[in-house]
Amino acid sequence: MPGPSPGLRRALLGLWASLGLGVFHLSAVAQEPFWADLQPRVALVERGGSLWLNCSTNCPRPERGGLETSLRRNGTQRGLRWLARQLIDIREPETQPVCFFRCARRTLQARGLIRTFQRPDRVELVPLPAWQPVGENFTLSCRVPGAGPRGSLTLTLLRGSQELIRHSFAGEPPRARGAVLTATVLARREDHGANFSCRAELDLRPQGLGLFENSSASRELRTFALSPDPPRLAAPRLLEVGSERLVSCTLDGLFPASEAGVYLALGDQRLSPDITLEGDELMATATATPSSEQEGSRQLVCIVTLGAESRETRENVTVYSKAE
Ligand SMILES: *[C@@H]1O[C@H](CO)[C@@H](O)[C@H](O)[C@H]1NC(C)=O
Ligand SMILES: *[C@@H]1O[C@H](CO)[C@@H](O)[C@H](O)[C@H]1NC(C)=O
Ligand SMILES: *[C@@H]1O[C@H](CO)[C@@H](O)[C@H](O)[C@H]1NC(C)=O
Ligand SMILES: *[C@@H]1O[C@H](CO)[C@@H](O)[C@H](O)[C@H]1NC(C)=O
Ligand SMILES: *[C@@H]1O[C@H](CO)[C@@H](O)[C@H](O)[C@H]1NC(C)=O
Ligand SMILES: *[C@@H]1O[C@H](CO)[C@@H](O)[C@H](O)[C@H]1NC(C)=O
Repeated sequence: MPGPSPGLRRALLGLWASLGLGVFHLSAVAQEPFWADLQPRVALVERGGSLWLNCSTNCPRPERGGLETSLRRNGTQRGLRWLARQLIDIREPETQPVCFFRCARRTLQARGLIRTFQRPDRVELVPLPAWQPVGENFTLSCRVPGAGPRGSLTLTLLRGSQELIRHSFAGEPPRARGAVLTATVLARREDHGANFSCRAELDLRPQGLGLFENSSASRELRTFALSPDPPRLAAPRLLEVGSERLVSCTLDGLFPASEAGVYLALGDQRLSPDITLEGDELMATATATPSSEQEGSRQLVCIVTLGAESRETRENVTVYSKAE
């Protein structure tokens, strides 16, 4: 059973005491301790924002009063038993201003708590590799510098609209700012052309503010696979000056085959092949017509390039001219 509050009990005791002494004009209020108060006691403001604090007392004739804080002040207003100050450009994650009054040789104090928050105004997904080999891991890393308090942040790494990993930083100390989320992802063929991004949520709804969301720019991944084997060259060993001969170069196990580049040359004469693709196989076909300057031993070269890698095959051919 809850009894009367301690304050009320003291007041009642005081009243009985004064009745007992027959001193009616001493009110119960005179027995109450004097206090200082700070309004608001607890505040959450956006970083760089401002706030009015009202420091007051019930001391009938306070001698001196003030507000101790490291924050920048702008305006002040005063009354007999109060003092209000505007604090501006509040950037510290957390500060504790103190309101005080001197009252009958005692100092009355009240301590407040001002915290700041910062929206996720920078959400950065670290650049992806230009070309990522299928079957190897790559790193997705998202940074949200400055945003906080970190304890109210949740970061999500996404592939298109699919959530890959979601992490909440709940439980972090109130002064903590900024967050990083990193994930290791195995690159697959299906990831070629997929767009990765990062979403940051600062949830201040429990503090009576909103949910602040932002997302990074998305980054497109390009994956590739290239067989370890060299391309196969098909060409006659002997080529006659002036006559057209078909030369071809084939490589299987290419993904995405359409992105591959082919260099086909006879000596330093570059050929312009026709490319045909069939699934993961690429075939480059060209007509070689050696000139008389190429007579002798020559190299036929085929280089297939995909992503950051290439495979090549060289074959020796002999260019001859028919004796007249
Ligand atoms: C500050 O608080 C006192 C006591 O509650 C009040 O009388 C006064 O009007 C307030 N001043 C401002 C500027 O709000
Ligand atoms: C500082 O006070 C001046 C004068 O009262 C006012 O015009 C100005 O807006 C205040 N600054 C901020 C940041 O509120
Ligand atoms: C969201 O993040 C982007 C990228 O970091 C930034 O350019 C943009 O200003 C942010 N938007 C908001 C509302 O904070
Ligand atoms: C990729 O990373 C996962 C988890 O970190 C690990 O278990 C796996 O062995 C790695 N795979 C390769 C091919 O490096
Ligand atoms: C990824 O983004 C690019 C550019 O915004 C777009 O052209 C492409 O279609 C997107 N890919 C997927 C799989 O949505
Ligand atoms: C091609 O000829 C060069 C010399 O001209 C020789 O060093 C090389 O081994 C030959 N390559 C093949 C595959 O026969």
